[in-house]
Amino acid sequence: MKTRFREMMAEDVPTVAAQENEIFKDAWAYEQLLSETDGQKHKFPIVLEIDGRIAGYACVWAFIDEVHINNFAIAPIFRQKGLGMKLIRFILGRFAAYKNAYLEVRKSNKAAINLYEKAGFKTFFIRQKYYSDGEDALVMQKKL
Ligand SMILES: CC(C)(COP(=O)(O)OP(=O)(O)OC[C@H]1O[C@@H](n2cnc3c(N)ncnc32)[C@H](O)[C@@H]1OP(=O)(O)O)[C@@H](O)C(=O)NCCC(=O)NCCS
Repeated sequence: MKTRFREMMAEDVPTVAAQENEIFKDAWAYEQLLSETDGQKHKFPIVLEIDGRIAGYACVWAFIDEVHINNFAIAPIFRQKGLGMKLIRFILGRFAAYKNAYLEVRKSNKAAINLYEKAGFKTFFIRQKYYSDGEDALVMQKKL
């Protein structure tokens, strides 16, 4: 099993958008994912490949000393094999020179919360009724 991290390119977006629609009820639109690949210098769209197939992805923004992980997923068939942990560790390593990393996660998303806590994130505050269905978001922070 060959694992590789690389920049998400515009030609990856159809595959990523299909996974995104399968995974999230409030999925990012195709155009939103595509805009992550427009080369603006604060945007770092990443894919994780297993044997040449996209198994996961993340959309990260970095400003001055802050890193925001805006989107993060592993495709269902690749889950619970340690790949989510590899992807978050890759991101944290890539941005080790920054000060803080932040992300938002649904309060009910125990799998992701466990992963982020294992990677060293802590709940920073709660955004009440943040999601369109009224669910709260945990804003999590890790000092880098
Ligand atoms: C959350 C997610 C990224 C985890 O990816 P993964 O590759 O399955 O995670 P890993 O195999 O690396 O697991 C790492 C840790 O995460 C936690 N975890 C992963 N899946 C879990 C599950 N189904 N239930 C509870 N904890 C879970 C565990 O603590 C695990 O450590 P362990 O293996 O020592 O128990 C994946 O389930 C996913 O893509 N979910 C849908 C998208 C999503 O919710 N993204 C986050 C949005 S903020």
